[in-house]
Amino acid sequence: MMSKSDNNEGSSKIPILIVDDEVHTRLALTKLLERENFLPFSAGSGEEALKILKKENIDIVITDLKLPNMNGIDLLKNIKETAPHICTLLITGHATIKTAVTAIKEGAYDYILKPLKFDELKKVIDKALDQQRLINENTYLKKLLYGKYDFSNIIGKSLAMQEVFNVMEKVADQDCSILILGNSGTGKELVAKAVHYNSSRRDNKFVAINCGSIPHNLLESELFGHVKGAFTGAHATKVGKFEYADNGTIFLDEIGNMSPALQVKLLRVLQEKEIVKVGDTKSKKIDVRVVSATNANLTEAIKNGTFREDLYYRLDIVQLNLPTLEKRKGDVPLLAKYFLKKYSKKIKNKKVIIDDSAIKLLEAYDFPGNVRELENMIERAIILCDDNKITEKDFPQNVRSKALIPKASRVKSDKHTTTGIDLNSELAKFEKELIKNAMALHKGTKSKAAKFLNINRTTLVEKLKRMEISFN
Ligand SMILES: Nc1ncnc2c1ncn2[C@@H]1O[C@H](COP(=O)(O)OP(=O)(O)OP(=O)(O)O)[C@@H](O)[C@H]1O
Ligand SMILES: [Mg+2]
Repeated sequence: MMSKSDNNEGSSKIPILIVDDEVHTRLALTKLLERENFLPFSAGSGEEALKILKKENIDIVITDLKLPNMNGIDLLKNIKETAPHICTLLITGHATIKTAVTAIKEGAYDYILKPLKFDELKKVIDKALDQQRLINENTYLKKLLYGKYDFSNIIGKSLAMQEVFNVMEKVADQDCSILILGNSGTGKELVAKAVHYNSSRRDNKFVAINCGSIPHNLLESELFGHVKGAFTGAHATKVGKFEYADNGTIFLDEIGNMSPALQVKLLRVLQEKEIVKVGDTKSKKIDVRVVSATNANLTEAIKNGTFREDLYYRLDIVQLNLPTLEKRKGDVPLLAKYFLKKYSKKIKNKKVIIDDSAIKLLEAYDFPGNVRELENMIERAIILCDDNKITEKDFPQNVRSKALIPKASRVKSDKHTTTGIDLNSELAKFEKELIKNAMALHKGTKSKAAKFLNINRTTLVEKLKRMEISFN
């Protein structure tokens, strides 16, 4: 984790996050830490801190115990769960030492008493970082001992995903560029991270940048940095993502959106393995593995002249294709149960289960938003469900009906395009198909199917009889 700062001639600083609602304390600490080997970030609340943690690769968090809304302990708990590799320290007054001891039980490394003395604080930070490094190395050794590759947070038993794992295993430690293709929500970033954390670069940074969300004129400086005065508003020298990711991995997301001018510059960086900050004349050697991703069709973009072919071949040494969830339907129940486990405790602090017909409903749905949509759906269902059990009613109406309609709409109407159609008979077929599917979904239980279709049970029984639908 911190090894980079030790052997990098002090050029890269340790990112530290200070969380305190008192602006004076934040400013003072920022100033003092800046003078040492730190890159300080600051937040006035726990919520703001979590936002920063999502965006930046923070190594250590120092938080005051008393914060508005979410207090310091809750923040530490959250970090422990979501990013256990981050080192955490709590600042507390004499009156709350007891709480600080609880914090240590929750995983904080140590606490620091107010009033803060910078020398002491610095010592505690250094000790904590050493300790955290040992823990991280240990975790790494355990991984080596129990199995070379760990993709356990990527769920997939389907053949399509097994193929992805196969390639990942082969290339994770090879240092080659990887291009990940797949629709939105198929897990491109998750896979990119897994490649990094299963490579020998794992103790250095994984830095993600979305090339599609940053305006073209700013992207160059985001990627390669700039020197003071390089352009209006460049008040200080800025380290770019490439330099920040030195010895680690950079994840260039939505690479298809990069402007042609910047594509040329990126190509040069990849060829020369050195960067030049905007406004600078000197270059700097960097050692970064590049993993890029897109949901655009790059072959098409090359044909249209919007993406450089030479850059494509640099990025696409190995390609990973993530299938849509529609193409790995068999993984839906596994993923649903995985997310259920992941969010149950967090949301309800209890085990939540899901019933079979709810799973069937998910299996029948087509998930245009892929795994992300499924994940959000489960999270929402956990919040909505009664008695800690998810049933069909906890999924949105469009999911409940869409699960049936695609099959029903396959009524052969294309052959009628020239001769016209008989609306009543087509509608009758459509209705019959919907009813059959609803019955299948509920294993022939009429009351459930009727509830699902929002009609009376007697109406359903009549329709079944009239349409001669038998269901055993
Ligand atoms: N196979 C999987 N197993 C477990 N979780 C997954 C899997 N695939 C995706 N996810 C989860 O789904 C969500 C979306 O994944 P991710 O952000 O990696 O998708 P993406 O392809 O980068 O999407 P986008 O193109 O919209 O950025 C994440 O929360 C991720 O952890
Ligand atoms: Mg993504």
